[in-house]
Amino acid sequence: MKILAFTIATGIAVVSMAMQTKPAAVPKQTMENGKKVYDVYCLACHQADGAGVPKMNPPLSKTQYVLGDKKRLVQIILKGMNEPLEIDGESYENTMSAHDFLSDQEVADVLTYVRNSFKNKASIVTPAEVKAVRAKLK
Ligand code: HEC
Repeated sequence: MKILAFTIATGIAVVSMAMQTKPAAVPKQTMENGKKVYDVYCLACHQADGAGVPKMNPPLSKTQYVLGDKKRLVQIILKGMNEPLEIDGESYENTMSAHDFLSDQEVADVLTYVRNSFKNKASIVTPAEVKAVRAKLK
C-alpha cells in the first residue's frame, strides 16, 4: 500500500514538473535568422555576448526592456532610444539610432533571438506584433 501511494505521489510530481516547463522552444531557424540580423546590426554596440560596453552601450542580458513589455521593446528598435538609462547600477547616455529600415520579420527574429540568448528566456516576438507597433508609430 505504501509503495502504491509513493508511486502515485511520484507520478503526480513528475507530471506537474512537466507541466511547469518553460515556453515552447524557439524554432532553430528563427534563432539562426535572428542571430544573422544581430551580428550585422546590433553586435557592434551590444557585443557578441550581449554584455554591452560599460557606460556606453547597455547590456541585453535580463534587462527590464528586453524581458518586459514587447511593444516597448519593438518601439526601441524601430525608433531608437535616447533617454538617461540605468542598468545594473551603470548609467548609459549614448543614443541608439532608429532601425526602422529592418523588416517586420527581421525585427521579430532579432528580438526573439535576443529574448532567448544572453541568459534570457522569454516568449517569441512575431512579425504581426512588430507590424502593429510600426503602424502606430506612423
Ligand atoms: C550605435 C550603437 C547601437 C546599435 C547599433 C544598437 N544599439 Fe541598442 N542601444 C544602444 C544604446 C546607446 C542604448 C541606450 C540608449 C539610451 O540610453 O537611451 C541602447 C538600448 C537598447 C535597448 C534597451 C536597453 C537595454 O539594454 O535593455 C535594447 C533592448 C537594445 N538597445 C537592443 C538593440 C538591438 C536588438 C539592436 C540591433 C537591431 C541594437 N540595440 C542596436 C546602442 C546601440
